[in-house]
Amino acid sequence: MRGEIQVLFRAIEAKDVGLICRWANDDRVNAGATFRVFPWSERMVRKMIDDGNFESDEKRYLIIETAEGIAIGIAIVRAINRQDRNAELGIVIGEIEYWNKGYGWAVAQKLLELCFNGLGLKRIYVYVPEFNRASGIMAAQLGLAKEGVLRKCFYRDAKFWDATLYSLLDDEWQSQRTLGKR
Ligand SMILES: CC(C)(COP(=O)(O)OP(=O)(O)OC[C@H]1O[C@@H](n2cnc3c(N)ncnc32)[C@H](O)[C@@H]1OP(=O)(O)O)[C@@H](O)C(=O)NCCC(=O)NCCS
Repeated sequence: MRGEIQVLFRAIEAKDVGLICRWANDDRVNAGATFRVFPWSERMVRKMIDDGNFESDEKRYLIIETAEGIAIGIAIVRAINRQDRNAELGIVIGEIEYWNKGYGWAVAQKLLELCFNGLGLKRIYVYVPEFNRASGIMAAQLGLAKEGVLRKCFYRDAKFWDATLYSLLDDEWQSQRTLGKR
């Protein structure tokens, strides 16, 4: 399965408003993510697109498409720090029927390629909330190093949750590739 799935990234367009709303308002998609508590309206998403909330020098939210051109989710590079050359990554597969088929893995590979070989970043990182088991497993499988725990940094379901900070450096990624681990 791994290595066989191809995904494409494209910019978010006005036509994606409905899709983004559906994904953002789906409790199953949201279960592991750290979205806001209020439902998203189409008006709000349209405004976010118009205001450049999804694309700027500091962040890019990209629509993930399958090889067949089906939009299935959003790949995120945010907090892009040009001076220190690092950024935070995120992946949301909004179409649930595409979960557990290797798409998340394929998106992660493409994001790493984009960050290290495209943007020339030194370090990428992800915050994995303790309520998101899948992301923790994926981060470890991708070879990200565990840097530490942020105590009680997310609030949801009337409870504060820890998050684990994972990171990967460009040379670690390159040597994993050379060793054929990905
Ligand atoms: C987390 C997410 C990106 C994983 O994507 P996916 O396409 O289902 O993942 P893949 O099929 O590529 O699986 C990659 C690895 O992750 C692990 N994994 C994926 N989903 C899992 C789950 N629900 N429970 C445990 N492990 C899981 C598997 O170990 C898998 O490795 P394997 O091939 O050895 O089985 C996807 O479930 C998602 O978008 N969830 C909602 C949003 C979210 O929580 N995003 C992360 C925070 S921004």
